[in-house]
Amino acid sequence: MSEIAKIELGGTTYEFPVIEGTENEKAIDISNLRAATGYVTLDTGYKNTGATTSAITFLDGEEGILKYRGYPIEELAEKATFIEVAYLLIYGNLPTVTELETFRSNITKHTLVHEDMKQFFEAYPAKAHPMGVLSSMVCSLSTFYPESLDPNRSPEAKDLTILRLLAKLPTLAAWAYKNSTRHPFMYPKNEFDYCKNFLYMMFAMPTEEFKVDPVVVDALNKLFILHADHEQNCSTSTVRIVGSSQANLYASISAGISALWGPLHGGANQEVIEMLEKIHADGGDVDKWVLKAKDKEDSFRLMGFGHRVYKNFDPRAKIIKKACDDILTKLGVNDPLLAIAKKLEQVALEDEYFKARNLYPNVDFYSGIIYKALGIPTEMFTVMFAIGRLPGWIAQWKEMTENKEPIGRPRQIYTGVVLRQYVPIEKR
Ligand code: ACO
Repeated sequence: MSEIAKIELGGTTYEFPVIEGTENEKAIDISNLRAATGYVTLDTGYKNTGATTSAITFLDGEEGILKYRGYPIEELAEKATFIEVAYLLIYGNLPTVTELETFRSNITKHTLVHEDMKQFFEAYPAKAHPMGVLSSMVCSLSTFYPESLDPNRSPEAKDLTILRLLAKLPTLAAWAYKNSTRHPFMYPKNEFDYCKNFLYMMFAMPTEEFKVDPVVVDALNKLFILHADHEQNCSTSTVRIVGSSQANLYASISAGISALWGPLHGGANQEVIEMLEKIHADGGDVDKWVLKAKDKEDSFRLMGFGHRVYKNFDPRAKIIKKACDDILTKLGVNDPLLAIAKKLEQVALEDEYFKARNLYPNVDFYSGIIYKALGIPTEMFTVMFAIGRLPGWIAQWKEMTENKEPIGRPRQIYTGVVLRQYVPIEKR
């Protein structure tokens, strides 16, 4: 018999169904709560609230499990390509050879961005943060494709917008970087695969032959896969909630990019390197900075530690830690920041404060170090995360529109003044 949750209010007992997911996770379905009782729930930061049902990604924070469409992240990171994973997330199954070839070739047809967009880049100051540029550019794409403004126009139109976004985001991201260095923009080279093409547009110069170590391409492929989806996190929930108003996909993804920018979310990978640099410049006394992180009077936090849902370990961090060691060895990088990172990790893992609060290194702790070793500039780290997360955002948006979810609109408990009378300005 299925479970029932009971709530007693003012002497009346109300019953609510309990729903169970395919991984046995349970939720009390309170969709009818307000209508039945007049009450709402209060859950600041949505720590206990399931905003939707979803068949895309499963994660168990206690056990450190992450699966995309049922495939463990460990297997995908080791064996798949990012484009294969993108297809899996968006369309539900791993592609066949033909499906993958078609998908790949369709993406390469759309890698160019409209020439007029080059002028937008040039109008930004060289110091503009690339996340601000990227978010604006993605929203600007909607102005070139007016047919995308109606997200429900047709499945074919939806697919075309999806392909355009997947194809153009690396171009826009690389151009945002090129613009910050005032170097010439490099046009995409479609004979390269997705990751190599991005590195080409980032690092190639028209005057030199482009060479890239395959280790770097592989590392990027792995990092993008690890970032590709993470169920209802801050940026994904943003994409879903913006999309729920039937705003177009470009606008929804642009909002997701903005949400990802924050230092408590994707922006943490940049903050990790900046923190390690600060500790290095300060003499490398890790214990001092751990004490600061524990001091409640001090706003400093150890960036790259802690996670809203992983309270045991972050499975992505486990994979990435190994990849980090491999890549640094293969590339022969000997970075003093890495030594500080390792010491920090060791001290924090043994410290009671961090143990009691289940604060472990998260994916951003190591991804920043890898990106640095790959030669990616610090300000571009969160942009890299955005490119990796794009298929997840798209998959979640697509699922939300196909399930015809209602507009997202939380309630609140009002705590302000009840009633005041307007006082003319001269009498205030
Ligand atoms: N350093 C020091 N103390 C910390 C840290 C940290 N990095 N993270 C959490 N804590 C402490 C808090 O002060 C709090 O202590 P208290 O119980 O004594 O008050 C306790 O641990 C719980 O922290 P919350 O902020 O309530 O946890 P929450 O789940 O809301 O936040 C978050 C999770 C935002 C990731 C947090 O751990 C944090 O700020 N980490 C640093 C930023 C970071 O690395 N973000 C990347 C997340 S991964 C991603 O988005 C891809």
